[in-house]
Amino acid sequence: MQQIECQAVVLENQRLNEQTSILTLLAPVVATAARPGQFVNISCNHLLRRPLGIMDADPSTGQIKVGIRIVGDGTAWLASRQTGELISVLGPLGHGFELSKISRVITVGGGTGVFPLYFVQKWCYAQGVESIAVCGYRSKSESFLTDEYAVLSCQTLFASDSGDMDFAGNAGQALQSLLTDLPPQAGTVILTCGPKIMMQKIAEIARNSQLPCQVSLEERMACGIGICLVCACKIKAEAAGDSITHLRCCVEGPVFPAEVVEWSI
Ligand SMILES: Cc1cc2nc3c(=O)[nH]c(=O)nc-3n(C[C@H](O)[C@H](O)[C@H](O)COP(=O)(O)OP(=O)(O)OC[C@H]3O[C@@H](n4cnc5c(N)ncnc54)[C@H](O)[C@@H]3O)c2cc1C
Ligand code: FES
Repeated sequence: MQQIECQAVVLENQRLNEQTSILTLLAPVVATAARPGQFVNISCNHLLRRPLGIMDADPSTGQIKVGIRIVGDGTAWLASRQTGELISVLGPLGHGFELSKISRVITVGGGTGVFPLYFVQKWCYAQGVESIAVCGYRSKSESFLTDEYAVLSCQTLFASDSGDMDFAGNAGQALQSLLTDLPPQAGTVILTCGPKIMMQKIAEIARNSQLPCQVSLEERMACGIGICLVCACKIKAEAAGDSITHLRCCVEGPVFPAEVVEWSI
């Protein structure tokens, strides 16, 4: 897999609200190689880079986008970059979503998970694959990308905890409600990204509905390229006698089939 470090130019910093920004970066090699579900590891004001899912990649312009929620020092630094600045980007990294042999995609995103799933929806639009987007937010005022999703997705369902969007409740409840009325179709897959507790619920709903599900895990990371083992995540072991094994989220993931993820330990 091609992964490369480049000095990316900040083309735009779109501040969505106090805590959230979208950076548009000129990074042609990343833009050409990136696949939905992959991430970049971006240098910041700390020794360690910060991993961010690729929200969009356009090989024709050489641009990529990343959505950033400020949770600490590194993301605050990244979200305050200005047009024309250079930042070091390593990527594209990791194993993205498996998108072969599918006829219908349901993406379920919560919080910052809404960002990387936009890339999936864009891929579906380009490939002519039917797509449904379920996005969960705290409230309408904290929501983002709703217009952009509406353009790409065949159907959208925006849920908010505060009850001021399409569906009152969380993304899991919204998915459950959607599936109740959705006609079955062979080749349907559920792809999810967001808080771990949400993805665990989505995986359970998918299992009960007998639909395949892929989850994008967000472990703490350091190197992002498989060397340091900081990102080890618990996976159900295939070998008899072992209950769990560990895989590197940054290389074997971040996307895994839901059924192999060990949630409970
Ligand atoms: C594959 C991958 C894709 C990601 N994609 C995005 C994205 O598209 N947009 C986005 O805003 N964020 C994303 N993240 C999370 C982002 O990397 C972290 O929020 C960031 O590294 C925090 O850095 P910081 O210096 O601001 O905060 P820190 O000071 O390092 O941490 C602040 C708080 O955030 C928690 N935290 C830090 N990193 C993580 C993590 N990986 N998972 C859960 N909690 C964490 C810490 O425990 C601490 O409580 C992704 C993470 C991974 C692993
Ligand atoms: S972050 Fe270093 S091995 Fe995954």
